[in-house]
Amino acid sequence: MLHEPEPHRRNDIVIARLLACTALSLAIATPGFAAPDAAPIDLAAAQARAKATVGQMQAEEKVVITHGIMPLPGGGPKVDIPKDAIIGAGYVAGIPRLGIPALRETDASLGVSWVGGARGDWSTALPSAVAQAASWNPALVQRGGAMIGAEARAKGFNVLLAGGVNLARDPRNGRTFEYFSEDPLLSGVLAGAAIRGVQSNHIISTIKHFALNGQETARKYVNVQISRAAAHESDLLAFQLGIEQGQPGSVMCAYNRIEGQQACASDWLLNTVLKQQWGYKGFVMSDWGAVPSIDAAISGLDHQSGEQLDPGVFFGSKLAEKAAGDAVWRTRLDDMNTRVLTAIYAAGVDKNPTQPGAPIDWDAHAAIAEDTAKQGIVLLKNDGGVLPLNTAVKSIAVIGGYADGGVLSGAGSSQVMGKGGPAVKLPVAGSGIWATFISEAYHRSSPMGAMKAQAPQATVLYRQGQYIKDAAELAARSEVAVVFATQWMTEGLDVPDLSLPRGQDALIEAVAAANPNTIVVLETGGPVKMPWLGKVKAVVEAWYPGARGGEAIASVLFGQTNPSGRLPVSFPADESQLPRPRLDGSDWVEPDFGGNPKNGKDQLAADYNIEGSDLGYRWFARSGAKPLFPFGYGLSYTTFAHARPVMKGMTARVAVRNTGQRAGAEVVQLYLVSRAGEAKRRLVGFGRVELAPGASGTVAMTIDPRLLADWKEGSWIMPGGDYVLATGRDAETLDTPITVPLKARSWKD
Ligand code: BGC
Repeated sequence: MLHEPEPHRRNDIVIARLLACTALSLAIATPGFAAPDAAPIDLAAAQARAKATVGQMQAEEKVVITHGIMPLPGGGPKVDIPKDAIIGAGYVAGIPRLGIPALRETDASLGVSWVGGARGDWSTALPSAVAQAASWNPALVQRGGAMIGAEARAKGFNVLLAGGVNLARDPRNGRTFEYFSEDPLLSGVLAGAAIRGVQSNHIISTIKHFALNGQETARKYVNVQISRAAAHESDLLAFQLGIEQGQPGSVMCAYNRIEGQQACASDWLLNTVLKQQWGYKGFVMSDWGAVPSIDAAISGLDHQSGEQLDPGVFFGSKLAEKAAGDAVWRTRLDDMNTRVLTAIYAAGVDKNPTQPGAPIDWDAHAAIAEDTAKQGIVLLKNDGGVLPLNTAVKSIAVIGGYADGGVLSGAGSSQVMGKGGPAVKLPVAGSGIWATFISEAYHRSSPMGAMKAQAPQATVLYRQGQYIKDAAELAARSEVAVVFATQWMTEGLDVPDLSLPRGQDALIEAVAAANPNTIVVLETGGPVKMPWLGKVKAVVEAWYPGARGGEAIASVLFGQTNPSGRLPVSFPADESQLPRPRLDGSDWVEPDFGGNPKNGKDQLAADYNIEGSDLGYRWFARSGAKPLFPFGYGLSYTTFAHARPVMKGMTARVAVRNTGQRAGAEVVQLYLVSRAGEAKRRLVGFGRVELAPGASGTVAMTIDPRLLADWKEGSWIMPGGDYVLATGRDAETLDTPITVPLKARSWKD
């Protein structure tokens, strides 16, 4: 919608779209809920209308849609909340004289956010974004976005703060659960899909947080150091693909600094890259409390959000004063208004007002959450085929993770909660503001309840596991022991390491020693270490599985669902394998939920030049270290045979056959293995295919040339020579490669 490709780039964009469609056309449909089709967007018309409206604006009207408040009682410094605002993340006044609607903003990465219950309502919680990404299924993610958009409309929200596409540069990042993956292609395609889904409801979606917002430690001031080339080949590429494929109305800039400058005041990021190189036509909104000064407008920021959290309200009367006395500011102000209005008109926000109170089809929405959880669960280990469990099993010990009550969720602005609030709620601290606001909350979807429903005749008993000996004794008396292990993550705080907290490793060891059929179900924000891996029979990564996570987990354990998730992030054996074995700043920054610099310690740097664009599996390929589980890894209850890729132009076709006894889905992954004699490891295509036993299918993947190229001084460059490509069961387990000779070429964004 808001990105008009330059003519010479159209090919790349078509290619990228095709790529998304590949997976889309092969995906199964979810019964009961159809995502509305995204209406065709006429960008030129939206922009022309926006310019005409700006032409009719009086001077004071030009500083209305350029800023907004956070309408949340108790959510920071006091602010007057207008009557037509809805409690949520943001409110921007409209201009009725010109038919410009007020903007009502909510966080919405994983569902319409809960804001601590302040609105007294509830929403459908999708699994975490990393869980969604584990499906490698853009069509599914798009349906999820459409579902969130539908709920938002029925609550009166018309701007969704969604589309978190930051790459998982460090698995300790407290927001790992809110982001998709460590790979720019997978993340960009999925963010684009989520945004398309949201915006199919005549709602504006953001893509966020632009850019390189890779850690929560000191998030408001950490200075990210990375070469421009590496940035373009990694984090920026994820944004670029997400913007091309999702056409979000808005880009939310990030808290961190880059090249010493706050991201929301970075002329390079906002003006040069986003608006000039990529031709983005929508508006840049700030993250909440991320605007250092009024000059951010000249650096490309179009809208100040949650303004009471900034050092001042810059984009109101102060901006009007600047514009009154200076033609440069006047032109900029017109452009800011044009961009906000282009987003409003392109999404049709003004012509399709939201319908607060409209009925919500909760059952259909819950089915989407459940389907997403099922497709995102990753089977990591299954020795001796211990899974799926037989429904005739006589006794099961369920241990830990509050599995009798519900499933874990991630916290922060993206926190969603269903009807009745949390089943279990543990404060992160016993005192102070965070004791009230941030807690480890479990959705009301009990895995144990769902397991009982699958095996009604079995004796299923529960221990939380605080008393390890007692839990091990129950395990010893049971045919099977299922341990639920959790790692809670929240926005604002990174985890100090990748261990399972609260002594859960010892609990698993003891249970595994007591029962030879021990299965571990992980509910984690991202990767964790597994010192007990060799002692358990099976490991299932369920992430934060959302509103119907319990049912989805039970369905996988008992084999109604054949697991098909693949890891969208590498699981390191331990932190020493990471580019930064110790998280920058974690040794001296207070755990302050990413607050402002304290005690003069505002010069913290995060050196992303160590890995550059080789993050995640590319770092493992470069360093030679063996991860615990590689990117792309995941087992199934069936087996698949792959034919070698057949190339036609830039499209690879891979035939796949289900060689086992059960229906299942395979995710075909295509990697660049070497280029002109130089070793590389880059995901260049993927597609998910559902196959009945014995059935074959073909996955077609069109390769975006940017994935084969390097970025150098403003151009993408592909050296001439042999390009070796291979499908991989994961990023480390490659099938027989093929060699494709390609000519040298270079082009500009
Ligand atoms: C987060 C954003 C969020 C905003 C509004 C910020 O703290 O970084 O992701 O959209 O708050 O709630």
